[in-house]
Amino acid sequence: MTEPKIHRQEPRSNLPQADSGVEALSRIRTLLGDKAAERFVPLWRQWVRSGFISGERFNLIGDKMLAACIKLGGLKPWDSVLEVGCGIGRNTFPLLGHLAPSAAYEGFDVTTSGIRWLRRYVTPKFAHFRFQQAAKIYSGLYNPQAGGDAATFKFPYPKGSFDLALAVSVFTHMAPLAVSHYLSEIGRTLKPHGRLLCTCYLLDDSALAMVRAGRSAIGFPNDFGSYRLQKVSMPEFAVAFDKNYFLQSANEAGLNLKGKIKPGSWRNEGGHTGQDLVVLEKRLEKNASCNSSAVPTRAGAG
Ligand SMILES: C[S@@+](CC[C@H](N)C(=O)[O-])C[C@H]1O[C@@H](n2cnc3c(N)ncnc32)[C@H](O)[C@@H]1O
Repeated sequence: MTEPKIHRQEPRSNLPQADSGVEALSRIRTLLGDKAAERFVPLWRQWVRSGFISGERFNLIGDKMLAACIKLGGLKPWDSVLEVGCGIGRNTFPLLGHLAPSAAYEGFDVTTSGIRWLRRYVTPKFAHFRFQQAAKIYSGLYNPQAGGDAATFKFPYPKGSFDLALAVSVFTHMAPLAVSHYLSEIGRTLKPHGRLLCTCYLLDDSALAMVRAGRSAIGFPNDFGSYRLQKVSMPEFAVAFDKNYFLQSANEAGLNLKGKIKPGSWRNEGGHTGQDLVVLEKRLEKNASCNSSAVPTRAGAG
């Protein structure tokens, strides 16, 4: 993992660190009650120990993502939101306070522990927040027992369902073909003019210069042309994509870049977030029927 891996350390003791996931407890307690907060602690610890998520800045990252969704993604309190790879709810908790009961939130993830907790403690109090496991999808890091291929996974939502999709530090842990496929599924399930807000590592000239000079926070030493890996033995540990390749995949999925890419601090040139922040907008197809079979795929696109 990336932003996590840069700073990741095993907690030196069982005591909560400052601005850790445990810092989220007061928010969880207020929103979801004591039992939920109590059961969150072992879940968070397990995720940090497994290297699934950073042990630091839990609230801060979630709050920043909500702010970005509002400011850059145009999120309104009544919108329908899809969160791809929602993990243990880092971005869900701030959204609980923002989305009105008339809104809808759907989160899914390949892991079971986070989804189980979120289903058990969030949905009963916030019925408009729902969570699904994509437990059959393989991830070397997050779901190594499964055999399903993310590159063919059909999201369990009808076309045109969402105003906003969110994928925070998810493409960072996925293979290029799977990311292209997820972009096309996001394109299918977004409403026209819906937005995708995602964080990932993108290699443009300046990022590549920092990587080649050994000055980026993550080295990405293994070059495969359209992408680079931190570890060949564990590809999902951290993947960086050639910016043009990523934007081309998005374009083929019917998603256009909206505004400028916000460079992340991993490049070592400043930055508001750890990873690069990208907003894409679903364009109106000439064929406005928007038939899902008409959504271009990488193989089919001309
Ligand atoms: C670094 S964590 C980030 C979790 C969450 N987005 C957040 O910001 O707290 C990466 C997440 O991506 C999920 N993930 C990895 N591969 C996935 C896939 N193919 N489909 C859905 N989720 C995936 C992992 O299970 C994990 O929850």
